[in-house]
Amino acid sequence: MHGLIQPHGGALIDRVRTGDVLEKLKAEAPSLKRIDLSAKQSCDLEMIGVGAFSPLDGFMGRSDFESVCKSMKLQSGDIWPIPILLAVDKANAPAIGDRIALHAPNGALQAILTVREVFTHDKKLEIPNVFRTEDPAHPGVKQVLDEGDTCIAGPVEIVQVCVDPSGPEAFLDHRKSPAETRKIFNNRGWRTVAAFQTRNPIHRAHEYLCKCAQEICDGLLIHPLVGETKPGDIPADVRMDCYNVLIENYFVPERTCLTVMPGAMRYAGPREAILHSLIRKNYGCTHFIVGRDHAGVGDYYGTYDAQLIFDDLDSINLGIEPLKFEHAAFSKRAQGMVSSKTFPKLEGDQIFLSGTKVREMLKNGERPPGEFSRPEVADTLIKWAKNAG
Ligand code: ADX
Repeated sequence: MHGLIQPHGGALIDRVRTGDVLEKLKAEAPSLKRIDLSAKQSCDLEMIGVGAFSPLDGFMGRSDFESVCKSMKLQSGDIWPIPILLAVDKANAPAIGDRIALHAPNGALQAILTVREVFTHDKKLEIPNVFRTEDPAHPGVKQVLDEGDTCIAGPVEIVQVCVDPSGPEAFLDHRKSPAETRKIFNNRGWRTVAAFQTRNPIHRAHEYLCKCAQEICDGLLIHPLVGETKPGDIPADVRMDCYNVLIENYFVPERTCLTVMPGAMRYAGPREAILHSLIRKNYGCTHFIVGRDHAGVGDYYGTYDAQLIFDDLDSINLGIEPLKFEHAAFSKRAQGMVSSKTFPKLEGDQIFLSGTKVREMLKNGERPPGEFSRPEVADTLIKWAKNAG
């Protein structure tokens, strides 16, 4: 589409099959070897299928895997920070040329893959490079450790995009593909669009980042990740209620777009920040918000590591511009949101609440202060926290 940013690698991938081709795939599937996907693999498959992982048209082969781990690039030379693998147990490995039926965790037939390559899953190469740690307590490291030892590579053909269309996390009204968000931006006449990745309810600090970005871009895409997250994270349907109520009350609808991103979290901090930005480039965004400890977990990454990693990248190939934000918080003295760039740090001036403290308050039916979270968002969370027990 003219006027909008080019997808990563130059062309938007579309592996979703329709019409006669789709009917043929469905008829073929029962005769094929079946592989049952993990939640993460199923999310990755949808992302490939709709073009969110362009230029990938399937699960990665060995040469891409190795160059991604070692130098954050595909064989084509395009930047790519995290392997996208279909790892299974050796006993399950098909032969080259086979076609295999990929089933989602709920049993639904999701896609058919043509096997181009089968290779050993080198976790010793992947884990330290991608996560900067080998600690099995890191949720992303654990995911990889739990995966199979053999990788199957090859292009995929999607039979069903959203595998649980009647489930609570389908969000069919908001599940827009990159081609669809590009159309939305075009129709709205947005030439520059900032993307906001999130896996949390939007609190005042998040809102501040979004609004700073809105000041410099034509539009904002609030793009929550609704694929697999770690236990303990707030469920996507609860977060969606929070986003909706927040946009309704505190954003300008003509300048704000809410759609979901069906990818899985890896908690890989810096490398995941790059992946998140490339995904949003594919969705048609020109700018990408990276704040404090983006996609981090625990103390594995430095507060600004996910920003620093962008400094060494080829910005032409990256294409999308990172918008880097310092830690933001409400200042009582300034009576507004500030960061260390905009207001001096004064003892006891900024409102800071730990995640644990906020959870505790919500469970007790107590609203965190308005300087931390909008009351409408707090009330949505209180309702959920009470039921969650
Ligand atoms: S993330 O895993 O998606 O990064 P989260 O939803 O909490 O988690 O964060 C969304 C974005 O907001 C990320 O870019 C993150 O760095 C940024 N962010 C979160 N809290 C703050 C804060 N207090 N100050 C600055 N940036 C923040």
